[in-house]
Amino acid sequence: MQQDRLLCAADTALRTLFATPRANQPSPAAGIEEADLSAAEKKLSGAYMRVNHVGEVCAQALYTAQAMVTKDERLREHLLEAAQEEMDHLAWTHQRLQALGERPSLLNPLWFAGAFLIGTVAAKVSDRASLGFVEETENQVSAHLQSHLDRLPPQDAASLAVVAQMKDDEERHAAAAVDAGAIPVPPPAKALMRVAAKVMTTTAHYI
Ligand SMILES: [Fe+2]
Ligand SMILES: [Fe+2]
Repeated sequence: MQQDRLLCAADTALRTLFATPRANQPSPAAGIEEADLSAAEKKLSGAYMRVNHVGEVCAQALYTAQAMVTKDERLREHLLEAAQEEMDHLAWTHQRLQALGERPSLLNPLWFAGAFLIGTVAAKVSDRASLGFVEETENQVSAHLQSHLDRLPPQDAASLAVVAQMKDDEERHAAAAVDAGAIPVPPPAKALMRVAAKVMTTTAHYI
């Protein structure tokens, strides 16, 4: 059983890092015409989408790690379901990167490994702590997505549509974690998570 779960986690790692992600749901950008962006605007949109793509790489790592550790089958199903929605986000942000002529972060293996480790630690504490960690992560991500909605070039409607849908989904994921019994993350851990996120987003903007 544990071996199956390990294999499932390894499979997710390889697919997240090395395969072209495939979405179940069509991208919110589908059917929106590409805006005529200047080189600088394209670079800026690309940088934001790279940051968001890194976030989704980490989401795969977190949810997979937590699903691997929990002994509660229902919770495991719930986490894997959320991971599937995050896979849509991974695919959509990947598509935006391609459309903008930008590449994913070169440090994705590192981000995945770090997030996987943190997810495993949170899950080892308890299921409810693990869910608390999901809630806080999703809240921080949705705040971050809101800042992108304010800063993306306003004519880049395709990227804006993707970010807006992701923000809705992340808020739903946070609420679902609360419904499933999340206990709030203690303030020092929240502060630490913010610092880690800052390092990741600042680096991913460029690399
Ligand atoms: Fe996501
Ligand atoms: Fe999410």
